[in-house]
Amino acid sequence: MRRKIVAGNWKMNGSKDLVDRLVGQVRSELASPGNGVEIVIIPPALFVGDVVRRADGEIAVGVQNVACWDSGAYTGEISAVMARDSGSACALVGHSERRQLFGETDEQVAVKVGKVLASGLDAIICVGETLEEREAGKAEDVVSSQVRKAVSEVSAGQWQQVVIAYEPVWAIGTGKTATAEDAQAMHAAIRAVLAAFGAPSEEISLLYGGSVKADNAAALFAQPDVDGGLIGGASLSAKDFVSICQAMPGKS
Ligand code: 13P
Repeated sequence: MRRKIVAGNWKMNGSKDLVDRLVGQVRSELASPGNGVEIVIIPPALFVGDVVRRADGEIAVGVQNVACWDSGAYTGEISAVMARDSGSACALVGHSERRQLFGETDEQVAVKVGKVLASGLDAIICVGETLEEREAGKAEDVVSSQVRKAVSEVSAGQWQQVVIAYEPVWAIGTGKTATAEDAQAMHAAIRAVLAAFGAPSEEISLLYGGSVKADNAAALFAQPDVDGGLIGGASLSAKDFVSICQAMPGKS
């Protein structure tokens, strides 16, 4: 059985007020946590403690990024161990915004994956092609290569901490979603890459992200290799986020 996960990536949005309102509403509307779908909120790191307290164990919390290092003179950075200490259960690694806006390389992503797993957190590794790469027919090659590099240092006992999120860059924040069929095809390709790598690919959860909304989530989540979603903009609305969580089979 693969984990079913719906995670909300708040990016650099939100406030303490939103934490109070949204987490409370999500908890009250998803009245029976633990019935098969893991709900995760990934706020700006400063709010992790607030979400942890407000979620009271019913919703998991994550961070959007960690440093390549354990500690030291790296002003502004936070380590995976610090994220765990603050109550996080997982960390995003290699989100396309980090790759594109902050120049994060495949090599840094691999190092961060190692730090996250060693700290005991789950790693939600983000991969995805640009529009240019898709139009050039290179989407699968690009994503496969990102996956191979990101998991290059994962050891045999760590695979249960690994989640992969396929987020086509052209679908993020644009309102353009991959069709359910395209998402399924890429997820199947990712699973094949993991299998070729010797990973227990059938046990690794693969999330889709990129303009997932209340009205398209069910079709995406119905695909056999789509085990959940990584939600950006729509996760900032309790109503929309709850609807998306409810679209995941196993949750009502
Ligand atoms: P949107 O849902 O806003 O397209 O963002 C997706 C994303 O980047 C989640 O990590």
